[in-house]
Amino acid sequence: MRSYSLIAPAKINLHLKIIGDRPDGYHELAMVLQGIDLADRVILNANGTDQFRLHCDHPEVPTDQSNLAYKAAVLMTQEFPDAFEQYGGANITIDKYIPVGAGLAGGSTNGAAVLVGLDLIWGLGLTQGELQDLAAKLGSDVPFCIAGGTAIATGRGEQLSPLPSLDSLYAVLAKYRSLSVSTAWAYQTYRQQFGDSYPPIAATGSVPATTPLKQRAHAGEIVSAIMQHDGARIGRLLHNDLEKVVLPAYPQVLQLRETMQQFNPLGVMMSGSGPTVFALVESQKEAEHLQRQIQAALPDPDLQTWVTRFRAGGIQIA
Ligand code: C5P
Repeated sequence: MRSYSLIAPAKINLHLKIIGDRPDGYHELAMVLQGIDLADRVILNANGTDQFRLHCDHPEVPTDQSNLAYKAAVLMTQEFPDAFEQYGGANITIDKYIPVGAGLAGGSTNGAAVLVGLDLIWGLGLTQGELQDLAAKLGSDVPFCIAGGTAIATGRGEQLSPLPSLDSLYAVLAKYRSLSVSTAWAYQTYRQQFGDSYPPIAATGSVPATTPLKQRAHAGEIVSAIMQHDGARIGRLLHNDLEKVVLPAYPQVLQLRETMQQFNPLGVMMSGSGPTVFALVESQKEAEHLQRQIQAALPDPDLQTWVTRFRAGGIQIA
């Protein structure tokens, strides 16, 4: 029986701009995504049966069909029925280190790991592009999780252009354990409050009004700061439109963000739909110092913090 142990890294959003509605009901986005060292471990053991069994000790992680790791396995059986018939299912164990409902793509990276793991177990030899096409069927962040690193993401978040690696930078992450934010809620609320300013959805066959905004994402200021590896400028250019709806609804997150800002890191921003907030710094020493400052300023047992380094690759064999 074959078995693989995979590292499944989390991501943060260095930039998240909502540029309009899409005909499929999602939002058209212009983002810069960054993989980080904070990672789950996903272990797949071929079990020679026609079943997939999911195990995870974390109380908030479902182990049924609603888990993206499970959905990834089902997708693979549908796409590759002959391989499933020949090699069978697997026991999938998720060792959870990435906080849940945090805006860090924890569920997405588990789904990405199962795609990579079954590709290996079933000997399919899929390319990264083929894996990313499958990943897009599971969720908007899953294609990024396959390749990781630093990338511009447009469309729903699934159209990726890799950028030079920033893996010498560090982030201090902070999240209240008891808080989580629904991504669907954050986008819906944003649409209710700011949807009036979206450009109109294009009729089939015509060029969408969002196209120039999307193209601008590739030549944005933060992209040039990344090309120049200018940490201070990247820090000043961090942006997340979803802060406009999440921070007013979650005053604790706003206070956390303001506290982190007070210690003058290169920049502070909420990741994805939150509620994780991260601060950007240039070395591990600075990151550890900042972590102690945050813990001293907010001595709340519900507050969790992590020091993590930017990471170059995506899903990897452990
Ligand atoms: O794709 P994923 O399942 O991760 O998205 C979760 C939710 O976030 C979607 O149901 C949708 O409400 C919202 N979303 C969106 N536009 C995107 C990505 C996500 O509206 N580009």
